[in-house]
Amino acid sequence: MKSKIQLICRSVSYLLLISLCLVNQIGKAQDIIIPVETKNNALVLQVTQNKDLSNIYIGKKLGNPAEYANIPGHYKQGTDYSDGTLNSAYSTAGSRNLFEPAVTVTHADGNKSLDLRYVSHKVTRTDNNVSLLSILVKDPVYNFEVVLNYKSYYNEDVIEQWSVITHQEKGNVILHKFASANLYLQSRKYWLTQYHGDWATEMKPEEVQLTHGIKTLDSKLGTRANLFQPSVFMLSLDKPATEDEGTVLYGSVEWSGNFRVDLELDNKDNLRLIAGMNNYASDYTLKPKEVFTTPAFLYTMSDKGKGDASRNLHNWARNYRILDGKGNRLTLLNNWEATYFDFDEPKLFELIKDTKKLGVDLFLLDDGWFANKYPRNGDVTGLGDWGVNKKKLPNGVASLVQEATKNGVKFGIWIEPEMVSPKSELYEKHPDWVVKQPQRPEHYLRNQLVLDLTNPKVQDFVYGIVDDLFTENPDLAYVKWDCNTVVFNAYSAHLKNQSHFYIEYMRGLYQVLERIRAKYPKVPMMLCSGGGGRVDYAALKYFTEFWPSDNTDPLERIFMQWEYSYFYPSVTSSNHVTDWGKQPIKFRTDVAMMGKLGFDIVVSKLSANELKFCQDAIKSYDAVKSVIWQGDLYRLADPRVNSIASLVYIDDKKSTGVMFNYLVSNRYGEGSKLPVRLKGLDPNKTYRIKELNIYPETKTSIDETKSYTGDFLMTVGFNPEVNEKRTSVVLQINEI
Ligand code: GLA
Repeated sequence: MKSKIQLICRSVSYLLLISLCLVNQIGKAQDIIIPVETKNNALVLQVTQNKDLSNIYIGKKLGNPAEYANIPGHYKQGTDYSDGTLNSAYSTAGSRNLFEPAVTVTHADGNKSLDLRYVSHKVTRTDNNVSLLSILVKDPVYNFEVVLNYKSYYNEDVIEQWSVITHQEKGNVILHKFASANLYLQSRKYWLTQYHGDWATEMKPEEVQLTHGIKTLDSKLGTRANLFQPSVFMLSLDKPATEDEGTVLYGSVEWSGNFRVDLELDNKDNLRLIAGMNNYASDYTLKPKEVFTTPAFLYTMSDKGKGDASRNLHNWARNYRILDGKGNRLTLLNNWEATYFDFDEPKLFELIKDTKKLGVDLFLLDDGWFANKYPRNGDVTGLGDWGVNKKKLPNGVASLVQEATKNGVKFGIWIEPEMVSPKSELYEKHPDWVVKQPQRPEHYLRNQLVLDLTNPKVQDFVYGIVDDLFTENPDLAYVKWDCNTVVFNAYSAHLKNQSHFYIEYMRGLYQVLERIRAKYPKVPMMLCSGGGGRVDYAALKYFTEFWPSDNTDPLERIFMQWEYSYFYPSVTSSNHVTDWGKQPIKFRTDVAMMGKLGFDIVVSKLSANELKFCQDAIKSYDAVKSVIWQGDLYRLADPRVNSIASLVYIDDKKSTGVMFNYLVSNRYGEGSKLPVRLKGLDPNKTYRIKELNIYPETKTSIDETKSYTGDFLMTVGFNPEVNEKRTSVVLQINEI
């Protein structure tokens, strides 16, 4: 029995991140308790008497941090055969651990065992909100150490965790596994929500109760890593969390390449969560004193359901991660679906005029503007030859930029700089720059191969594509960066050690992006990967937005954007109005407005009313876009369980909101039969509701003269009058 616990050590900051040393006073050696606290949660680590570093708690924080030390005593789950390392903060292999390790090595002498014991820890406070806890653990036998880092964002309830591995052995050490983070959750049940998909079917959710053994989420695709599965997931504890109830953890690996998340339910019914880069085909040879830094595992937790967790993540992303997360974005007209590869200067001049006519900020020229020997007239040739195609554009890109400027709009351009067509001058000149197995037949996805970004010369080349475009066209205002191929036949002619390929590729890509951002810090760039094949919080450090999917059918987009919205704020979601789907232009525009609005249609084919509708909608969007991008998102009616979808963005003063409502079932008589309960308003304020995006020659059916208290709107609700005649309804809620 433990008696009194006395607080003896240092408390690093008020409420922010507290590091405590607690002594058990029954004559035993000391237990050190290290809590990482955010506004609502705590992750608590413990140094046991034999210097093992353990996870003892993750969840709602306690009022009195001294009580964290009492937690382990209340779990009576039977014997830990691994001598108290089941809940290790960084599970090793080859010594006592019996379950999935976070780190596995072969030492310089060939020994494969690792045991990491606590040495010291320190806390560095960046400001009132951000703190970094670094814990040094070392092998008592080998000169091998790891620093476990926990960066906490107090107000956002977010933690980033990563590891820094070094050694001073008498030769190289091979790292076989090198996770970013190792958590340990103790709950009655665990429900995993994961995502899967393919081209044009991204972000399909699946929720299952985890059973004993390991569930692994991973990617081995190299470049377009999220094509079949992204690294984002949700983990509900005890029971599946709903929008407003339940305890849920959102996790994500900040890495654009191969990732791996292991969720292992052990013999004591606890869950070991290990996340980081995928170690698939990636044994890493670490030289003495070389520093191996893993990417971060990012997570947030809420005991108030999925909505709260997602708002925390959105706040974190806009405040700390997304490039220009609080800044402006440009509405645009893209020519991809309007022309595909079939265009020339006169055609583009017309589209530039249409950009102005429509009322958007920018014209975006897509694929097909480059390559001469093997012109890019389809997706089989020319990738890699970034010289402008002289037949299509005899006066170069400069003349297009000029024409845009003349029309009072900006100009942006598409590139796919990491890839190469087998039929290209680049491939002819530099076959050694291409990722391929020299002795095996080439295998393609979308008729192309990946360039070897582990090679500094290739990095210079890729950087040069962007730099040249900006140097030659200083008014260039936007870049769409595409990536349509996965890695087959992984092999680099540059690398000595092929098992470093997947890791060095991503490091190479990030180096290029660092260089681009050093010179062009704020130019908006869209992250595209044949749709949503590459979206993560490492890449969004360099990109202002991403392309969720090539599937722009608005009905599909309601569902897809809904799922993305749990993890990424709407300011990052590029949504274009296209001709996909059978819905009227109003429906398509209303759906695209829930994010960063763009168009990819033939403006000249719009009827007078359609054009007028779009022009007015863009004006309305410009007036409310800051609420959509920066406001708090509340999901009101889930399209998967209702015949309508409904959500609202509300500004931080709770004075303005924009509510989107759609009919998602076309069965007879379906619609908003009941009022939709609002959320996030001030109950004591009074609001008036006005309909936006009304189609020409139609009228709203809503009485816009009435006013309602926030209390009424959140208790009774409001009926947006969604029905088969009003399939999409956008409402503005204004405080009076
Ligand atoms: C990918 C993108 C599209 C378009 C084409 C161009 O498929 O996702 O938006 O840019 O490439 O080839």
